[in-house]
This record gives sequence, C-alpha cells and structure tokens, in this order.
Amino acid sequence: MKVFTTVTSLQEALKDVQDKGFTVGFVPTMGALHYGHLSLVAKAGSMTDIVVVSIFVNPTQFTDKNDLTNYPRTLESDLKLLSSVRCDYVFSPSVEEMYPVEDTRKFDFGYLETVMEGEFRPGHFNGVAQVVSKLFAIILPQKAFFGLKDFQQLAVIRKMVRQMGLPVEIVPCDIVREGDGLAMSSRNKLLLPEYRNCASIIYQTLKEAKELTTTKSLQFIKDFVVNRINANGLLKVEYFEIVDENSLMPSKNFNEPGAKVGCIAVFAGKVRLIDNIIFDIN
Ligand code: PAF
Repeated sequence: MKVFTTVTSLQEALKDVQDKGFTVGFVPTMGALHYGHLSLVAKAGSMTDIVVVSIFVNPTQFTDKNDLTNYPRTLESDLKLLSSVRCDYVFSPSVEEMYPVEDTRKFDFGYLETVMEGEFRPGHFNGVAQVVSKLFAIILPQKAFFGLKDFQQLAVIRKMVRQMGLPVEIVPCDIVREGDGLAMSSRNKLLLPEYRNCASIIYQTLKEAKELTTTKSLQFIKDFVVNRINANGLLKVEYFEIVDENSLMPSKNFNEPGAKVGCIAVFAGKVRLIDNIIFDIN
C-alpha cells in the first residue's frame, strides 16, 4: 500500500497502471475508517484491479464550523485498518493541495438538494460534488464505491455524473451495522456512552416500521417512527421522510409504484446520525 499526499505523485503512479490497462476502483472517504468503509474497499478490490482510497476531511461540505473542527481525524489507525484489506493507493492530501484556489463552482441538483439533508444542511451537497468531481478528475476511476447509508448523497453523485457526463460507474454498497443494528459511521466515535447505548433504537424502530407497512398508513408510520425515537428522551429526530427511491420525492401512500425509502436524521446529543431503510412493498 502506497500513501500519496500530492496530486502529481498519485497521478504519476496511476498513469503507469492505467497505461497497462488496469481498471481503477475508487473509494472516497473522510477517514475515521470503520468496517463499513472496509466493506467498500473489499468490494472495490473484487471488481477492479487497483484500489484507491482517499482520506480527506473536505471543508467545503461542512455547514457547521464546529462539526468540521470536531470531525475525527485518525490517519494512523486508518492506514493500519487499510493495510488489513487490499488497498493499493491511499490519497491523503492537505486542504491546500485539494483547493489551491477557492472552488466557486455551483452545482444544481434541483429537488435532490432541497429536501432532507439538503434542507437541514444547505450547501452540503454542493461541497460534496466539488470534492468528488475533483477527486474523479484526479484519479479517473472506472468505478467508484459509495455506501447506501448516505442514500441522498448517492442520488446526488449519480446525478452529478450524468450532468457532467463522467465515464465512471457508481457502485452502491450495503449499509454495514454494529451488532445492535446501529449503522456504522465515523461519527459513532463521538457518541458519549449514554447516547451510544440508546442509538440502536433508531434502526430497531425503522425495522418495526417496515413490518407495519402492510397494515398501516404512511402517515401512521411517519408519526410512529418520530414518536418512538423521541420518546427515548436522549434522541431527537431532525427529520423522517418516506421518499421515492429515485426521485426522493415524498411518497403520499404505499400504493404508489416504485420502492420507497425511509430516511432519518437523529441528534444523539450533539452528534447527528443518519440511517435509512428500504420499504420494498410493491
Ligand atoms: O461520504 C463521505 O464520507 C463524504 O461525503 C465523501 C463522499 C468522502 C466526500 O467528502
């Protein structure tokens, strides 16, 4: 595993492998790696010849300065974890290396960026698109791997790839969960023990909601999820929406065609957690 901190050194190494006709799989991360990330890296390794992982806490996607400051940075242990799977190249640039000049680009993802995460973190997806499009341009991967936990991010990235006509295939990867069901996230490291203990309620409630979809109305399920989680006292739901899996438009009832996804954001103290569940009813 080789670690690169500059664009030119990474590109030199990649030119060699690309000239030989090897396919490149790319896993973008912000570090603080966990087994969810490793599952993306393993999937990339099973589908492409050379696996590149980026570790970069991207300032342009943070809407809250404290969140950016507090975001866990654990490069040494990240590299240790990555050496336990097949990762060929790690790209860990500085902010100056990624943004030698300010990125003033404005993307327009229409409806996709105005709901859920977009509503509560305005500008977030613009920052994600800035950094991911830059990383794609540097690395030129054939395939890029994104976790389904960030369901809306995946939809935004797919749209960006279509809008920009980029020759990269986006590969969605299943959510990886802790033993008690909590979706793995770098932010879990920030949870104080009392919040960590009750955070499993989020997924337990989503699973119960899924069972109710055959007998209860969509509105009943929305209220059920919000009330059940908030009743805990330590958790506070920011939003819970049931949306069409492609358009992310809110669904009115379960009879509408197409799969629906229940997407949720919850505050566990100061830590914001997101999760989702697919309601494949039809
Ligand atoms: O999902 C993340 O960790 C980040 O949003 C990403 C895709 C690495 C861009 O900074």
